[in-house]
Amino acid sequence: MVKKINPDELEKIVASIPMISASASRLLQITAQPDHELMDVVNLVKTDANLTARVLKVVNSAAYGLVSKITSVDRAVSYLGEQVVVSIAIENCAGELLGKELAGYEAAGGELWKHDLRAAIAAREVVIQSGADMSPDLAFTAGLLHDIGKALISDYLRGTAPEAVEMISSHDSLDYLAAEEKLVGVDHTIAGYALAQAWQLPEELAMAIRYHHEPAQAEEIYRPLVYAVHLGDSIAMMGGYGTGSDSMRYKLDANYADYIQINANILANVMLTVDTEFDKLSESLSDSGEKS
Ligand SMILES: [Fe+2]
Ligand SMILES: [Fe+2]
Repeated sequence: MVKKINPDELEKIVASIPMISASASRLLQITAQPDHELMDVVNLVKTDANLTARVLKVVNSAAYGLVSKITSVDRAVSYLGEQVVVSIAIENCAGELLGKELAGYEAAGGELWKHDLRAAIAAREVVIQSGADMSPDLAFTAGLLHDIGKALISDYLRGTAPEAVEMISSHDSLDYLAAEEKLVGVDHTIAGYALAQAWQLPEELAMAIRYHHEPAQAEEIYRPLVYAVHLGDSIAMMGGYGTGSDSMRYKLDANYADYIQINANILANVMLTVDTEFDKLSESLSDSGEKS
């Protein structure tokens, strides 16, 4: 018998997850503001010795192949760019959570992080290549965090994957989200949203986590970003990088076209870019001493 996650239980699960560091929290707040500058990121990194060390380690890692070592935070951050710095900060604080095995989804350790990284790059590329009027950096961050709720409910879903798949194929459940809800009482977007609130993430990120499978339900102002993550997530899965049993078992909301114009050419380009950029980014992050 599967244990249900009632509101009290969800609160307990969220409370058991360590808070993100003050500097990571601040970094996410700063980078969610449309008018921030790279200098704000530099100044923030400088306040955190641990983050500074990691940023310097990444920029001087073999992946970047620099001839001479970079020792200043200013140069390191401008060389790496905001998205890599955000990835380092998130990996620092939530790496354990995002890197863990998802037994409930029959996904090995590292699969969630890889999926998130691919979804992040894809969401960013969708924004850039479609010319949509929103921040590609924020789409990237939202992509990185969108499925964090899976790490919270995975243990409760242990052993349920065949049943969840059956529920969908017999039309007992609309998609994997509905199956999760039936099986354990809460789906991964609700669990992720509860964590986003506990971590006091910027509302844009919390909304992307909450509605990435049902973008039409997000408030209008958040919808472009939520649709970008919705597409990024789908593209990661289409490329063969899901998180196990739930991959491709969600509905694609075709109304994305109201917010983001992509055609087959753009889609093919995005998928190509995801492949090359993923290798580069994951190599640089793993070179720095973190998991691959
Ligand atoms: Fe998801
Ligand atoms: Fe996803």
